Amino acid sequence: MKAKKIVIIGGGKMGEVIAAGILKAGLAQPGSVTVSDIVPDRLAYLKGRYAVGTAQDNRKAARDADIVILAVKPQGIGEVLEELAPVIDRKKLVVSIAAGIPIRFIAERLKKGIPIVRVMPNTPALVGEGAAALAAGEAASGADLATARGIFDALGVTVVVKEDLMDTVTGLSGSGPAYGFIIIDALSDGGVLMGLPRDVATKLAAQTLLGAAKLYLDSLKHPGELRDMVTSPGGTTIAGIRALEKHGLRSALIQAVEAATLRSQELGRGK
Ligand SMILES: NC(=O)c1ccc[n+]([C@@H]2O[C@H](COP(=O)([O-])OP(=O)(O)OC[C@H]3O[C@@H](n4cnc5c(N)ncnc54)[C@H](OP(=O)(O)O)[C@@H]3O)[C@@H](O)[C@H]2O)c1
Repeated sequence: MKAKKIVIIGGGKMGEVIAAGILKAGLAQPGSVTVSDIVPDRLAYLKGRYAVGTAQDNRKAARDADIVILAVKPQGIGEVLEELAPVIDRKKLVVSIAAGIPIRFIAERLKKGIPIVRVMPNTPALVGEGAAALAAGEAASGADLATARGIFDALGVTVVVKEDLMDTVTGLSGSGPAYGFIIIDALSDGGVLMGLPRDVATKLAAQTLLGAAKLYLDSLKHPGELRDMVTSPGGTTIAGIRALEKHGLRSALIQAVEAATLRSQELGRGK
């Protein structure tokens, strides 16, 4: 990976996060990373902050690259692929983070047999706590998938899924940060209702969710087992859980993932 030249097409929010993650993890030196974007101010900022190479000509930038990461908005992907197609050969790995754009869409616009990996990251990647799912195209080898995974491991946690589950990933971890914010806000409301100042309540709520998540990820014990460990007979926690069950929190979250998945599927059909 260290010797590879990486080009990121689109230096927006996610493009920056990916560049920063690659450098922080030492996967490449700044001189081996180029960001190509149409906004000169953005490029000047990225060059100043990360010392990466910059370009405004996507095709020229991608010509010598080993890994081409597509990080423009989904509506711009078609145009970018048209530009890149002449210089993308089988020796290059194409990694796309464009939400809702199938591998087939990309493959059809490039020469035959190009290795492609599709990734669905999420916004906590901004703070190194992302959750990204990866799916490999037919022409991508295990090594290609591992290379792409290495990049997103630097931004949080990764999983590999079949591509037809990407809409479900979108409904869970893609949209999930918003569910998390609502839960934090609601817990904070509860704290305020029962007398805590707002800032104190929100801080406690957010850190509690972060801590619970970390306890799970560090132990990999079933969430039910971890819950039982803090739920003493006749105690405070079981009283709280009874209220959550009565008001359907669990069912609401299941349905949130279902609704967001179905919406992602609809968007994929152009609705
Ligand atoms: N943000 C997220 O949470 C998230 C999560 C999962 C996946 N994604 C995916 O990540 C991708 C990037 O999202 P983002 O939030 O980082 O978007 P963004 O901030 O708008 O970044 C895209 C950048 O690409 C530039 N650009 C547009 N057309 C270009 C072209 N032809 N060549 C080179 N650069 C071009 C844009 O310039 P202009 O601003 O001038 O258009 C912008 O600077 C999207 O496909 C999105 O679906 C994002």
